[in-house]
Amino acid sequence: MAEQIKTIGVLTSGGDAPGMNAAIRGVVRTALCKGVAVKGIKRGYAGLLAEEIVDMDRSSVSDIIDQGGTILGTARCMEFMTEEGQAKGAEMCKKHNIDGIVVIGGDGSYRGALALSKHGINTIGIPGTIDLDIACTDYTIGFDTAINTAMEAIDKVRDTSSSHERCSIIEVMGRNAGYIALWCGIANGAEDILLPEKYDYNEQTIINNIIQNRKKGKRHHIIINAEGIGHSTSMARRIEAATGIETRATILGYMQRGGSPTCKDRFYASIMGSYAAEILCEGKTNRVVAHSKGEFVDYDIDEALAMQKEISEYEYKVSKMLSM
Ligand code: ADP
Ligand code: F6P
Repeated sequence: MAEQIKTIGVLTSGGDAPGMNAAIRGVVRTALCKGVAVKGIKRGYAGLLAEEIVDMDRSSVSDIIDQGGTILGTARCMEFMTEEGQAKGAEMCKKHNIDGIVVIGGDGSYRGALALSKHGINTIGIPGTIDLDIACTDYTIGFDTAINTAMEAIDKVRDTSSSHERCSIIEVMGRNAGYIALWCGIANGAEDILLPEKYDYNEQTIINNIIQNRKKGKRHHIIINAEGIGHSTSMARRIEAATGIETRATILGYMQRGGSPTCKDRFYASIMGSYAAEILCEGKTNRVVAHSKGEFVDYDIDEALAMQKEISEYEYKVSKMLSM
């Protein structure tokens, strides 16, 4: 029989993502429905170590479901990467009578949750990142909002690019993962898509493409470049010099991480928040919530961290065919 859970904590960690507030709301309201108290831990693991811990009631999460960012704040905390930091984190939980924590974040945050669970604090992770780069799940909080924000911005760049018959390089987020680039590349009808997973792209092939397309009468050439490849401005200069076609770089940057979450992000994040609180209150630990094959499921954190995820070769091939 699992020990009785009386109080849980919730924190957001790593890069923020639209929908994190919906997940926090899901955690708080579900736990309260079960008669379990909730404490909000501010600024991720940094706030845990600094004891930035507040009581949460149902009204603490009123009017937040439509807000981007995270009401709890988030941080990257180097101290928590150390054994001493993790032991101190567990001590803080005990001091504040926190029996378990829901951690909303990416792979790095899961490693922190794993460490806490080894120190006897129950932990459940929820996938929160706009990058979609968590292997155990086909959905991560914030990706849907980020791709829709980027898609709308790219449509706008495309309008002006066509009017001026220019080539445009548009850099989207994704330091290590090209999911935003691939989805927007297909959704925006880009001519070329550069992904960190396929770093061996050939600039001369792109230049030849641009020249061929111009001969065919194409009025613009959109290149979606992932942040992990980067160097969009210098690439634009080289392409302009080689093709004689005016080329501009646009770096979308942090605007992709903000904004009101889409319906999909609000819905999935709410369910995942509720699911996490439910299993934490049942006494489960060291698990992460995921969405896989059409269902909400949970995995052991160790198992989840060992999984691998790769860009779909099929989707990449389709993107190439459609950009002809
Ligand atoms: P994300 O959760 O989005 O992947 P990070 O990799 O920056 O973001 O991780 C967020 C935080 O999680 C880090 O600042 C650190 O506090 C904690 N963390 C990351 N990796 C570890 C680790 N190996 N052990 C313990 N804590 C970690
Ligand atoms: O949230 C994910 C992400 O946006 C990555 O695409 C990017 O590499 C990283 O966060 C940048 O975050 P920061 O500049 O806040 O460290």
